[in-house]
Amino acid sequence: MSSSSKSSGLLAMALLAALLAGARCAAPAPPVTFTVEAGSNEKHLAVLVSCQGDSMVEVALRENASYEWVDMSKGEGGVWTFDSEEPLQGPFNFRICTEKRMKDVFDDVIPDKYTIGATYTPPGQ
Ligand SMILES: *[C@@H]1O[C@H](CO)[C@@H](O)[C@H](O)[C@H]1NC(C)=O
Repeated sequence: MSSSSKSSGLLAMALLAALLAGARCAAPAPPVTFTVEAGSNEKHLAVLVSCQGDSMVEVALRENASYEWVDMSKGEGGVWTFDSEEPLQGPFNFRICTEKRMKDVFDDVIPDKYTIGATYTPPGQ
């Protein structure tokens, strides 16, 4: 093998690596984040749901081990709330509908023992 064909092979690999890096940076959509707001307790959940450049039209909640989605109420500044008669059971799953993305479902977003003020990003996003 001549030294010139070896270096063109290296160049091709460098180009491929650059292309792959570029593909990773060009993620299709910014992540959706869920921040547990102050005032949340076992019967009241308040979550700031946000996605850069997009806005939520609908947010539904599903408790762990429940098959039922319940609609959350839209509050001020992107905060969505839900009040329950019974203590809420996490981890909590969310189904969102946004202006740009349509529907998305995120499982196991907020753990049962969440921290007020913590921001959770769905796994695999
Ligand atoms: C969530 O539900 C599953 C299935 O019922 C159960 O095994 C698990 O313990 C529950 N997790 C919590 C944190 O309650």
